[in-house]
Amino acid sequence: MRRDIADRTDLVLLISDFYARVFADDLLGHIFVDVAKMDLAAHLPIMGDFWETVLFRTGGYRRNALALHVDLHRVAPLGPEHFARWLELWRATIDDRYAGPNAERAKIQAERIARSMQRRLAGATGSEHVTVRRRDPAQR
Ligand code: HEM
Repeated sequence: MRRDIADRTDLVLLISDFYARVFADDLLGHIFVDVAKMDLAAHLPIMGDFWETVLFRTGGYRRNALALHVDLHRVAPLGPEHFARWLELWRATIDDRYAGPNAERAKIQAERIARSMQRRLAGATGSEHVTVRRRDPAQR
């Protein structure tokens, strides 16, 4: 029987598995590999902080994920199809490994964050980009 996500170790395993799938994906892979040239080893602890903060309120993540995706969106536009695939892979990775209230929350929270990110990105080209930055001058 699958157990629930219990701690950071579980999250790191989940995140590694998820990014392996994302990197191999025909729609998303090139954004991570060719556009962002993401260094997975450097990225893993940051994602661990992010998901620990989202799920367990540890507060270790203090960076600005939105600004990073706004920048990315300007060079590789992120549309609904990209977010749909991201969420599909996230849900599938969770369901393959874990089951329980935290696993459900991880799926629901990702959907919420993806929805809000998409809303913010929709107008975030040209001058809107500046507006997004100005709203929170303390960050980044
Ligand atoms: C179309 C969907 C998405 C794409 C293509 C995408 C792509 C990326 C890429 C390429 C990076 C790494 C950039 C770098 O380090 O140079 C990144 C970072 C990140 N992504 Fe996404 N992302 C997507 C959706 C999401 C969603 C829905 C979430 C949250 C639920 C999310 C959370 C994060 C976080 C927390 C980081 C780390 C930010 C930091 O360095 O502080 N992403 N994303």
